[in-house]
Amino acid sequence: MMAAPLVLALGGSLLRPEESERHAWLSSLADLLSSCDASIGIVVGGGAPAREAIELAKPVLNDVAALDEIGIAATRLNAAIVAQILQGADLDVCAGIPSDVASAARGLEAHKVVVMGGTRPGHTTDNVAIRLAIEAKAARCLIATNVSHVHSSDPRVDADARIIESMSLAELQEIVGPPIHGKAGGSGVIDPIGVQAAIDNNLPLAVLDGRYLDRVADALAGKPFIGTRIEVE
Ligand code: UTP
Repeated sequence: MMAAPLVLALGGSLLRPEESERHAWLSSLADLLSSCDASIGIVVGGGAPAREAIELAKPVLNDVAALDEIGIAATRLNAAIVAQILQGADLDVCAGIPSDVASAARGLEAHKVVVMGGTRPGHTTDNVAIRLAIEAKAARCLIATNVSHVHSSDPRVDADARIIESMSLAELQEIVGPPIHGKAGGSGVIDPIGVQAAIDNNLPLAVLDGRYLDRVADALAGKPFIGTRIEVE
């Protein structure tokens, strides 16, 4: 039997061109994916283009769902960049960017890699990745971002924030709060709507710093990794 698919969310901040060595990171990502046995669903966040576009429209567009649609367009742009690069590196990438998780899960049955962005208003790509992991029966959803771990509080505002290496989904929900989509763009460490979906479907998660692809490689291989493991209980 084929190994269960893997699902990896790549925070949009990982694609920032001003980050040094981004092209080296992208080609290492391609190498890393080619060395995996399982098929891999990649869900790409909106990052800087999403933030900029939402900020541009916000003063004249007071509607969260409309701003979300702008954010989704940015995630799909970033997904197209990643998909084309991986295809250019000779990986078997599903053609097109699926617009829902059911089509992405079907793509994973036929291709090594499926790359997608957002789907519909009301959540972020963390929730899309979690939904894809559930749909594709992945054992865990990996969320690669630009922080090393989940912290006990927001490290950007609290100097006493501690890193957490292992926690339960319930403990994560205490940190991220109830499943509400308050505004378009910019959120905490993981979308609280995705955390609720993980709880409802008994899906373990992981949060790790995607700038360090060795950590991502360890997590994809099911080995111990630097980051936070979030277990069902
Ligand atoms: P991101 O997934 O990049 O979310 O989507 P984020 O929380 O703003 O960014 P990170 O995780 O901190 O990098 C960007 C925006 O696009 C909309 C939301 O407004 C989100 O904030 N979006 C995205 C949706 O409405 N639906 C989706 O499926 C995906």
